[in-house]
Amino acid sequence: MPTSVPRIGIVGARGLVGSEALSILAQRGHPAKSVVGFGSSRSAGSRIDYGPTPIEIQHIDTIADHGLDYTILCADASVAHQVAELLQHQPATIIDNSSAFRMNPRVPLVVPEINADQLTEQSKLIANPNCSTIMMVRALDPLHREIGIRNITVTTYQAVSGAGRAGVDELHAQTHSHLNGIDQAPSLFPAGCAFNVFEHESLIDPATGFNGEETKMINETRRIWGIADLPVLPTCVRVPVERAHAQSIVADLQEPTTESLLREILSSYAIRTLEPGETLTPLDAAGGDDVIVGRIRVDPSSGGRRVLLWVCCDQIRKGAALNAIQILDQLKFKRCSSRAKKSTRPGKACAEEQNRKVLA
Ligand SMILES: NC(=O)c1ccc[n+]([C@@H]2O[C@H](COP(=O)([O-])OP(=O)(O)OC[C@H]3O[C@@H](n4cnc5c(N)ncnc54)[C@H](OP(=O)(O)O)[C@@H]3O)[C@@H](O)[C@H]2O)c1
Repeated sequence: MPTSVPRIGIVGARGLVGSEALSILAQRGHPAKSVVGFGSSRSAGSRIDYGPTPIEIQHIDTIADHGLDYTILCADASVAHQVAELLQHQPATIIDNSSAFRMNPRVPLVVPEINADQLTEQSKLIANPNCSTIMMVRALDPLHREIGIRNITVTTYQAVSGAGRAGVDELHAQTHSHLNGIDQAPSLFPAGCAFNVFEHESLIDPATGFNGEETKMINETRRIWGIADLPVLPTCVRVPVERAHAQSIVADLQEPTTESLLREILSSYAIRTLEPGETLTPLDAAGGDDVIVGRIRVDPSSGGRRVLLWVCCDQIRKGAALNAIQILDQLKFKRCSSRAKKSTRPGKACAEEQNRKVLA
């Protein structure tokens, strides 16, 4: 059972999501001796900054030897399956950023502001939704709760960092080549990513015509809200942006609304909204924790039932690393509260967790 300063493992510590998770933990003052970074043989033995203290990356094969209370997985689905097996007889709770367990009905799929009630003291494996799903449901959940959503049509404008460090490297290399008049063939992406846009690179399902990213948005949104037949119509596109995704969302609501009511509802759920005329770009969201909503409109031809939103979010933070750490906070709080109930001297044991809960 975790102590008040839990030992946290970050798998994929050198990757974009893993290094962001480390930076959030370091910013919060989580002590270096209670954090362990893991990687493949490519990075094991190397050192990585953790605040002012460098930590040494451990080989993934040793993960069961580190007495971890929590493990945040920031690698691909095959690594997630491997780690789940290595830790199956360990007390460590796993929070996974990959797609490995998202549709497993025994594994909660959690955005803490929406469905933290899916977490229990006993939860051992929790899935983080896909980054595009997280930002869309976070922006729409207040409207879903207060008015009701009938259907969603969404077009994404996704940063290349959604494909990991290699995506950023490819954008940098291609931009440099292009500006120097060199024609460089794409390697990671199916088309040139500099000065170009293209449909998301995940495989298209011939049965539906939707690609893998679009299918995740459909299935995960339905699962998070528990509406198996909710119409969700995504078109996912990569754009030559380094960090933070944008989305154009059109949703039909159950009841008529107005722009001012939408703004009021979103703000009451701690969603940052912009005033008409204010510009919102991915750069405004990059490096921050907010899902930001701008261009709030109501289609006048829809009887007030169709709304249009422009949403930006740092997909490496709220779309992955931060969401995972918020899940960890919720679990710590639930476990701490349960221990405090059983104790004759509950004291201040859950104060830190309570603060974290407010942040989540
Ligand atoms: N990037 C995003 O915006 C985003 C958003 C939401 C979810 N996600 C998901 O988060 C996960 C990580 O994405 P990322 O963008 O951080 O990718 P990344 O930058 O490519 O990093 C991947 C990390 O995985 C590690 N890794 C690969 N094979 C490994 C193995 N066999 N054992 C241990 N570690 C291994 C690598 O470590 P070594 O360097 O040691 O090989 C690397 O640090 C993925 O599942 C991704 O789908 C990403």
